[in-house]
Amino acid sequence: MKIQHITTQPIDGQKAGTSGLRRKTRDFMAPQFLENYVQSIINAIGGAAGKRFVLGGDGRFFNAEAIQIILRMLAANDAAQVITGRNGILSTPAASHLIRQTQADGGFILSASHNPGGLDEDFGLKFNMSNGGPATETLTDAILAQTKSITSYAMMDSPDIDLTAQADTALGNTQIRIVDSVSDYAALMETLFDFDTIAGLFQSGFRMRFDAMHAVTGPYAKAVLETRLGAPEGTVVNGTPLPDFGGGHPDPNPIWAHELMGVMTGPDAPDFGAASDGDGDRNMIVGRGAYVTPSDSLALIAAHAHLAPGYREGLSGVARSMPTSAAVDRVAAAKQIACFETPTGWKFFGALLDAGKVSLCGEESAGTGSGHVREKDGLWAVLMWLNIIAATGKSVAELMADHWATYGRNYYSRHDYEAVDSGKANDLMNGLRDQLAGLPGQSFAGLTVQMADEFAYTCPVENSHTTAQGIRIGFAGDARVVFRLSGTGTQGATLRVYLELLETDSAKLDMPAETALAAVIAAAEQIAEIKAHTGRDAPDVKT
Ligand code: G6P
Ligand code: ZN
Repeated sequence: MKIQHITTQPIDGQKAGTSGLRRKTRDFMAPQFLENYVQSIINAIGGAAGKRFVLGGDGRFFNAEAIQIILRMLAANDAAQVITGRNGILSTPAASHLIRQTQADGGFILSASHNPGGLDEDFGLKFNMSNGGPATETLTDAILAQTKSITSYAMMDSPDIDLTAQADTALGNTQIRIVDSVSDYAALMETLFDFDTIAGLFQSGFRMRFDAMHAVTGPYAKAVLETRLGAPEGTVVNGTPLPDFGGGHPDPNPIWAHELMGVMTGPDAPDFGAASDGDGDRNMIVGRGAYVTPSDSLALIAAHAHLAPGYREGLSGVARSMPTSAAVDRVAAAKQIACFETPTGWKFFGALLDAGKVSLCGEESAGTGSGHVREKDGLWAVLMWLNIIAATGKSVAELMADHWATYGRNYYSRHDYEAVDSGKANDLMNGLRDQLAGLPGQSFAGLTVQMADEFAYTCPVENSHTTAQGIRIGFAGDARVVFRLSGTGTQGATLRVYLELLETDSAKLDMPAETALAAVIAAAEQIAEIKAHTGRDAPDVKT
C-alpha cells in the first residue's frame, strides 16, 4: 500500500453553512471535491497524525463511497485510529456520543440532514470536535482558508475496506474499528430515562407510531422502542434506511411527515406519534390530533425534565436559538434558571453545555437535546416525551393544555419561501435593515413596534462575536416577527419568516395558530413587502 500525494487546486464553493458543507451530491462526486474538503479539514486541525477519529453517515446515496475515500485519506495522513459504524452508518447523535465516549479527537459526519438524498439530491460533510459537537466558527473559518490555498492531498492507494462485519482491521498504520452502530447509543439512553416505567406504559396497551422516514433512525428506534422497551413490532414504520429515503424529504414536520399526521388525526390514531430526520437529530412530536411545535416541545421538556432519572437534579439552565419562541423563557423564569438566546445552529450551544451553563437546548427547526451529547437528538426527545407521559399518566393534548394554562401559549408559525432568487432575497433583507432605526413607534396591522434590530451574539463562555443573525421586530403585546435567510439550502435563497404571539387569556388558548397570528402575519407583509420582493403570493411551506 502506497501513500500518494496528489496535486490539486482550490475549488470554489466550499464554504460551510449552518451545519457543515452541504451541496448537490453530484458536486460532492466531482473530481477532487470531497478530497479537497477532507484534506482542508485535516490541515485546519493541525494534521491527523496519531489522532483518533469517528467516521459515519446517514446512509444516503454516496455515503458508502465517501466513507472509503475518507478512510484512505485518514490512513494516508497517519491517523492512529478510525472508528466507524457497520456499513459506515452512524446517526449524528450516535456519532457525537462515540466521539465523547472514545475520547476521539474529532469526527467526520456524512449527511445533508433532512434534505432529500440521491444522485440528483443533496449530500453533506461536517466535522465535529473532540467535545462531540459541530466545529466552531473559528474552525470552520480555518477550514475555509485551507480550501482556498490547498495544493495537494494524501490518499492511500488501497482497495475498499469491508465494513460489513464488526471487527478491527488495519489500513497502513491506522487501525480501523467497526462497531455496532446502535448499541452504545442505546446504552446511553438507558442511563437517562426510566426504561421500566416506559416499558410499563407499553405493557398497559399504550400505542405509538414512530416514523423513521426511511432514514437512519430506523435501526435505532427499533432497537430501543421495540426490543428494549417492548413496544409491539410495527411501532416503528418506514424503518429500513434507504439511500434515497424512499424518494421523500426526511424532514419531520407536518408537511413532509404528512403520512404520520394523517394517521394521528385519523379515526384509529395511536396515543403518540413521532418522527425523526435523515441523520436522526431532529424530531417531531404529535399526540392524538395534537401536533406539538418544536418550541412548545422544548418548553414542556424544560418544565418536566426532572421526571427523567438523568435530569432528576433539575436543569442548570436552558438555551434556545433566537427564532425559537419564548415559551421556554417563561418556564426558565418560573424555575429561576438561566435562559440563553443564541444564533441559529447547534454549534452555538456547545460552549454553554461544556461550561455547564445549560443542560437543555432546542430550536424551532425541530431540534431538541441536552448535555448527553453535543448534537440535537431525535430519539432522545421522543424518549423524554415517553418518560414524561409515563410518569404523569397524561396524554400529549392534556400535557399541552396544562402547560398553556400555567405559562400561557406562545402561538407560533414559520413561513418559508423557498428557492427565491438570491438577489431578491438579499434586497428584502437590506430593505429591512434600512428601516430598522425608524420602526419603533410605528404601527402595522394594529401592532406597535417596540424594538427592531439585527441579532448579534457574544458567547458568554468563549467571548466570540457573531453578527447578522436575523432581523427581529418586537411589538407591544408580546408579539414578534423574525426574518432570516436559511443557511442550509442548496438552491437560491430560502426566506424564513418566524411569527409569534403570547396569549395568556384562558379563553383563547385553543385557536388555530394561523388565526391567532393573523395580525402578526399582516404586519410582517407590510414591513417587509414579501410579495413585492419575491413575487410569491404565499409561502411554500408553513410549519
Ligand atoms: C441545521 C442545524 C440546526 C439549525 C438548522 C437551521 O439543521 O443543525 O441547528 O437550526 O440547520 O436551518 P436553516 O435552514 O434555517 O439555516
Ligand atoms: Zn438532521
